Amino acid sequence: MVATVNLEFTAKEANRAVERGDIVIIIDVLRSCSTITNLLKEGAKSVIPTETLHEAYRLHKRHPDYLLFGERKGRKPKGFDFGNSPSGFSSRDVQQKNIIITTTSGTLAINRCRRANWVLIGSLLNAGPVARKAREIAEKRKLNISFVLSGDRGRFSLEDFICAGAIAERFHRDAFSDEVSAAVLGFKQARSNLFENIMKAQHARHLISMGFVKDVEFSCQLDSINIIPMYRNGKIVPLAKWRARWDLNPGPPA
Ligand code: MLT
Repeated sequence: MVATVNLEFTAKEANRAVERGDIVIIIDVLRSCSTITNLLKEGAKSVIPTETLHEAYRLHKRHPDYLLFGERKGRKPKGFDFGNSPSGFSSRDVQQKNIIITTTSGTLAINRCRRANWVLIGSLLNAGPVARKAREIAEKRKLNISFVLSGDRGRFSLEDFICAGAIAERFHRDAFSDEVSAAVLGFKQARSNLFENIMKAQHARHLISMGFVKDVEFSCQLDSINIIPMYRNGKIVPLAKWRARWDLNPGPPA
């Protein structure tokens, strides 16, 4: 089956993808989706994205053993265990831990997609595995696919667009909207040196000026992590874990 592939430019438009009933791939290369992907790779049990700081603190009060991750204005909020640096923790820090994360745009986009049945978290780190899985679900369930770019405080972000292209490039048989075709062209232009190209983007420049160049470098490592984070029922876990549950209790997702 040929899937239609759409793209929404910022978190504000996320509801369009949800209303279409598409498989949603949320992208925030800098930095929340890269952080979530690496947290799960390093052994975190689950990641709970909250839209507001208030919700994060409230949830933490109920579960003091959960770790608090995130940022406001790029920095670690007061009382948090970690900021939003995708490689700012080790497996010793996060192994078997539940994580609460709140960021300016990424966790907002994720929360706006909570009514969607299929939400995958995409980044350059896991572009290949996410592409393969989205394609597989689209084929099996006869669904279309939408990218939702988180953007940066309501604005379009180049690095998220390039990442959508990196994922869509592998859906070569599908019907792309012009936005998706443009993202693929953008990725092809940028792929020979992702870091050099992405570091010129506005959000990357801002992070670099704050001393986070390592985060930008880390987030540009294409296809380096074989994890497909899936968001459902308020939390994100690797898709393999959901699969294990479905095998016991097959049927349509909640
Ligand atoms: C966000 O969600 O707005 C970003 O991840 C911000 C950042 O930490 O760079």
